[in-house]
Formats: sequence, C-alpha cells, structure tokens
Amino acid sequence: LDNGLARTPPMGYNTWNAFHEEIDEKMVRESAEILISSGLAAAGYNYFNLDDGWNMKTRGVEGPMAVNSTRFPSGIPALADWLHSKGLKLGVYSDAGSMTCARFAASLGHEKEDAKVFAEWGVDFLKYDNCFATPMSVRARYEAMRDALNATGRPMLFSMCEWGVSSPWVYGHEVGHAWRTTKDISMEIEATWADVVENLDETAGLARFAGPGGWNDADMLEATLTYTEQRSHFALWALIKSPLLIGADLRKLKKEDLLLLKSREIIAINQDPLGVAGDRVWKQGPYEVWAAPLLGGARAVVMFNRHVASEEKFEEHNMTLHWSMIGYPVDMQVVVRDLYKERDLGRYTGELTELVDAHGVLALKLSPVRCVPVFCPL
Ligand code: GLA
Repeated sequence: LDNGLARTPPMGYNTWNAFHEEIDEKMVRESAEILISSGLAAAGYNYFNLDDGWNMKTRGVEGPMAVNSTRFPSGIPALADWLHSKGLKLGVYSDAGSMTCARFAASLGHEKEDAKVFAEWGVDFLKYDNCFATPMSVRARYEAMRDALNATGRPMLFSMCEWGVSSPWVYGHEVGHAWRTTKDISMEIEATWADVVENLDETAGLARFAGPGGWNDADMLEATLTYTEQRSHFALWALIKSPLLIGADLRKLKKEDLLLLKSREIIAINQDPLGVAGDRVWKQGPYEVWAAPLLGGARAVVMFNRHVASEEKFEEHNMTLHWSMIGYPVDMQVVVRDLYKERDLGRYTGELTELVDAHGVLALKLSPVRCVPVFCPL
C-alpha cells in the first residue's frame, strides 16, 4: 500500500507461535523489555504485535471490539503509550470474518468502528486474518478494512494474513503492506525443517510482486531448529524480503539464536533501500542459489544446501556459484563478503566454489570492483 509505510519489510515480534492466546499485559511488558535489553529493538525489531487472544469473544450490539480487561487491565491505550515511550510500536490482530481463528470477536461488518478505535488507541499495525469468512471475496473483505484504516488518518501497517489462498501477491500492493504467502509455519507443534522449506518453496517465484510498500510474508521466524537450520531460515527470509517477525519466546531464546537474529549484515539485506526481493535463481537437486540485487549494483546471494530427510546423503557439499546465475558478466571481478562472518573472502572473477553444510547456507554479498556501465547509473 503506497502510503509511506513499509518501504522496507517490517521487523518486530509477534506473540502467536510462542504463546497462542495465553497473552497478557505482564507477558507483553516482559517480552518488550527483553526486546530492548537484548539489543533486538536497536537492531530494527520495533513492532510489538499482539496476535489472537487480546480482545473479547463478543462485542456489544453496536460499537467496536473491546480488550480483554482481565488480561490487559491497563487497557490498550496505556500499553501503546508505554511501548511508544520505549521507542516501540504496537500491533493488534483481527479477522475479516465472523470470528478470529481462535474464536474471538472479529471485524467483518465492523471495519469502520474497529479501525477508528485502533487509531484512537494509538495502534500502529494490524494483522488481519481470514478465518470464519463469508462467500464475499477475500479481496473485498480486506479492502473494506484498508479503506477503514485509511479513513482514520492514522498510518497503520496493514498485514494481510489470508495464507496465500487468493493469490494475494497479485493484488496485495493495492490493499496491504504484506501478505502471507503460506500456511502457518508452526501449527500446534514446533516448526520443523520441513515446515521452513515448505514455506520457502511456496514463496519462490513471487519476488516480482514484492517491493517498497508491499511484501511477500513467509510467516514468522522460528527458533526451534538446529543452529545450522536457523542460519538458513534467517538468511533466506531476509533475502526474500519477508517481514522479520520473531515468533519465539524471548525469555527462552538461546544466546546463539539471539546473536543470529541480530546479524547486522543479514538484516541490511532485508532492509536494503532498493527494495527488490530475492528469489531462487538456480536449482539442481537439493542445491540452490537464491539472489537479490542490492542498491548500487551489488548482489546478495544465498547458496543453499537444503537436503531433506528422505535423501540418502546428509552431508556438506561443494557448491559453485557462477556469475551467470546472478546476471553478472563472466569476466567481472567482484569482492565477495561473507555476511554472517562479516568478513571479505577475497576477489573473484566468474565463479566461486565453497563448502555448504547440509541444511546450511553461505550468505554472501558480491560487489563489483569496478564500475561496469550496465551496473551503474549513467
Ligand atoms: C491463523 C494465522 C496465525 C495466527 C492464528 C491466530 O492461523 O495464520 O498466524 O494469527 O491464526 O489464531
């Protein structure tokens, strides 16, 4: 949506995957404090998004939805003020149907009064789900909320969560700032490697629909995988320019996972001002190359050895990146930088071969040494 928000993908925290509907004021304040003290907020994670479970199961005959005041005794405006005073932003959740997915009050037919009250409360972000829908088209139901949000005059980021069922990437730019491309990354159980790869595959090929103001959303960042897998999950989500919304219990986050989520140069790929999403550019069996152009003619590249459990060998593999895979001339000399190690690997021409762990990635930035006309503004 072209209203100045989400020029780069949103970053922050979402309560659902770790807490489901068991959320309350104490947990929110505790998690927000950790977001700040851990350095995650400073690294860019500044939205604190309440997912399903913050409001009441029913609403009055007339009037907007109401907060569950047992769980949030101080109310949403006080929480918004508190988060704002800490430099954070507040997200809430509703649904374009008769109930939310966890059966709380939803907004279909109440878009105007709900949007108005969200704006009055100081809400900055709305995740809008698609459970208990009517036969009315997804697009029409989401447009009703977009119009209601716009009419308030308060800029609120509008995140469409209809799980990719109506090809939202085709029209998403006109309706919201992000659209889920997939099912939930973690259902009842913890997210597995297969879940991550499935969501990635469902988002492959959709990069061209993303750009400043509207992003493909492959769902939240999980912290239930091995360290090697976490690195892949994070680098690939950053490269495809998915929103980076942490879906883990911050109180239990391992130190290594925390450091990973703060990887400066990986985040910089996601937040690159050019705003071109990366996509899969090459694949042979389980070996893949994903790439994105960056501002100034550089490329972000993720070399990915995805091995799935059913395959016989589970081992590291020597992968070769050929410049032709990423649209560089073969004779172009580039500086290659390892984005996790934050270190230059050296100068290369035409190709580069490196070992990539099973389920692992090598996340690189390639910068041309000299300005080649086709890669520079005239
Ligand atoms: C759906 C969404 C999830 C979460 C739950 C809440 O399943 O896809 O991300 O918001 O609803 O009930």
